[in-house]
Order: sequence, then structure tokens, then C-alpha cells
Amino acid sequence: APAPVESIGAEFFDDPHARYRRWRAEGPVHRVRFPDDVVRWVIVGYAEARIALADPRLRKDAGQLDAILHAKRGTTATDPNIVALLTHMLGTDPPAHTRLRKLVNKAFTSRQVALLRPRIEQITATLLDAIGDRDEVDLMRDFANPLPVTVICELLGVPFEDRADFQAWTKTLVTVVGEGEHDERPTASAAMVGYLAKLVRAKQSEPAEDLLSELVLADDEGDRLTDQELVSMAFLLLVAGHETTVNLIGNGVLALLRDPEQWRALREDPTGVPAAIEEFLRFDGPVDMATARYTAEPITLGNTEIPAGEIVYVALSAANRDPARFEAPDTLATDTPTPGHLAFGHGIHFCVGAPLARVEAQIAFTALLARFPDLALSPTADLHWQTSTLIRGLLELPVRLR
Ligand code: HEM
Repeated sequence: APAPVESIGAEFFDDPHARYRRWRAEGPVHRVRFPDDVVRWVIVGYAEARIALADPRLRKDAGQLDAILHAKRGTTATDPNIVALLTHMLGTDPPAHTRLRKLVNKAFTSRQVALLRPRIEQITATLLDAIGDRDEVDLMRDFANPLPVTVICELLGVPFEDRADFQAWTKTLVTVVGEGEHDERPTASAAMVGYLAKLVRAKQSEPAEDLLSELVLADDEGDRLTDQELVSMAFLLLVAGHETTVNLIGNGVLALLRDPEQWRALREDPTGVPAAIEEFLRFDGPVDMATARYTAEPITLGNTEIPAGEIVYVALSAANRDPARFEAPDTLATDTPTPGHLAFGHGIHFCVGAPLARVEAQIAFTALLARFPDLALSPTADLHWQTSTLIRGLLELPVRLR
């Protein structure tokens, strides 16, 4: 196997696109040392990424992944809570995956999601009313974050008042921990499991009009979800509904404000918003590298053979700016987006929540453009990014409303 190309550390997160540009020029498949000192394979070419996402030799079983990770680290202790939380549809392969996905699929169809529109519009209006009389705000804290979080909490039936707790646990769970740094993940995972198990018990004894209650009651010819499956499903939906659409709004607003001509064009013609959102997803999507996969057998991608038992990350952000697939990939083109981005993944794990994310973002951008036609980046803005290879998102987005 080739030597590791290089390591990624804290500096990576300031501008992953610059690093990906260099790697892509060298080849589509790289070996990279991550901040936890484990070497993983990273796919940066579009064609190879698309193939990898749909290849059944690349698997997702959470228990196997955990075992491989510990073997690479030379550790044996596993965190049973992490594995429990991750044994959901994104941490399983067929046939388990097929069964779990079928149970939630129908809640997220475009038709179901269209029914949520009026409520999402109402939440959006309330949030914008609350910031409307100020000159400067942190758009992450006051808008991009609370909008999707309110929606997913209501949809699932999770108390919104508890969001500070589970947001903190989630942040801990997706943040890269460097070698020698204190790992707070076992504490966060235990707290998260305890919280969700209690919530599931509450829905079991008193079902309400929400998705979690529906899942508790779901019965497919006698096939029901176990308590553990309910906890991990709730975790997946909560996290997916939290850290993703938030950053589609944040990264999209940033991209637009850096190119005020495109902001003005959209303001003049808001019918362009759905197309613009697809371009935000391609240009700087909320998921940088897709969730981990492992090779169940050797697989050759772009002339590189990856042996069995290796951890593989598909860098969606890198694929989405591959010049072999997208013309002028580093330029935002909201009026003429090239279709085919991989921001929602590809293959059997393609994002279940994509219709919801798209509707939320459409409502959010339409409302922002109408309410704050002169929105601008704060001149003193000093932007910082989350230190996660999974989530590409701003910590703060200071803007001038007028
Ligand atoms: C899967 C992206 C919003 C629920 C995925 C995957 C990606 C993704 C890339 C596949 C990961 C992989 O293959 O490793 C996004 C983006 C979003 C978004 C960019 C917002 C802009 C949501 C929302 C929900 C959701 C709002 C629901 C509440 C899921 C679920 C899966 C998934 C359940 C797993 C599907 C499976 O394993 O079959 N998402 N997501 N996502 N997403 Fe999303």
C-alpha cells in the first residue's frame, strides 16, 4: 500500500476545499492520517466517490467498524453506548438496513413533507420577527440553528426545551478528538442513551401525535422495533435533523453574501431559490466526508487497491468540486447549477430527509431574501468552522440586517 499522503489536523477545517483541490490533482484515492492517529482511506474524485457509495463491498455495520477502529488503535475497550447509538439504518447493511429504512421512509416522502410547510413557514416568521429590530445578529444562533432544530423536535416529539443538552452531546460525538486530548465522548454517549431511552419509554406508555410514537407503535406484520432500535433510530433522526439543514442555511448564506450580485439576483427573482439551494449543496454542503465505511473485501478504485478491513471515507465536498465532473467547480453558480451533486449521498443510504431539508431551506432563503433585502456579512466577521470531518459548518455567522 502507498505511504500515507499526509495528516489532517486543526488547520484542515479552515479550508478543506484547498486541501481537496491538491489531493484531487494527485489522484482520486488517498491514505490520510486523522487527528486520532488512525490512517483511513479518503476518496476525493467524483466518479470514484459515486462508485464507492453504491458498492456493496463497502459496508457500514457499526459493530464491525468499531472493532476495526479499535484494532487499528491497538485498544480493546469499546464504548457499548456508541455502538448502540450507531446501530441504526446508517450503521447497518441489508437486510437489516432495508427493514429499518422501510419503517421511516413514508414519513419523509415529498407529500408528507409538503404538509409540514405551513408550520415551517410559521416557525421561520417567528424567528425572523424576533431578530427583526436589531442591526447585527449571529445568524447561526438566531436563525440557521433554531429553525431545523424546532422542526425536527416537533416532528419527532422531542421536547425543544432539552435541546441545549442533546446539542452539546451531539457536538461532542461528531468532533474530532486529537491524540492525547481528553475524550468526552463516552460521557456524552451515555447521557444521550439515557435521555433517549427515557423518552422512548414515555412514548410507549403515552403515545402522542409524533413520529417517535408512530415508530413505537409501528407493526409490519408482527415485526416491531426493539427498544434499542428505537433509541438508535431516534438518535439518527435527531442528529441528522440537527447538524445538517442548519449548515445548509449557514453555508448557503455565507456563499451568497460573499457574492452580493447573486444575492441581488435571487432577491429580484425568488423562483430561483430551489435551484440555488442545489448549488449551495454542491458548493459547500453540510456533510464534508460521508459516514465511515469499511472494506469487507479488497476493492480497486481509481487504480488503487484498498485491502480488506480498511476504513474508507468518501469526501462528498471533494467530489462535488471535481473539475472532471463540474465546470468551474470553485465558482458559485446559483442561476445555472450543474446537477449531480453528492451532498445527500448516493445508493441505498441516500438521505431519507432530503425532501424535508430542501423544503426547510427553500422556506428559509425565501423569507430571508424578502425580509432582509440588504443583508450583508458583518465587516468584523471572523469566521470559524466546526472541527469535524463529518460536518462542514460555521460556529458563528455575524451579519448586518440592514
Ligand atoms: C443519510 C446528508 C438532512 C436523515 C444522509 C447521508 C448524507 C446526508 C450525505 C448519507 C451518509 C452516508 O452514506 O454516509 C444530509 C444533508 C442534509 C440532511 C446534506 C441537509 C441539508 C437530513 C434530515 C433528516 C435526515 C433533515 C431527517 C430528519 C437522514 C437519514 C439518513 C441520512 C435517516 C440515513 C439513510 C440510510 O442509511 O438509509 N444524509 N442530510 N437527513 N439522512 Fe440526511
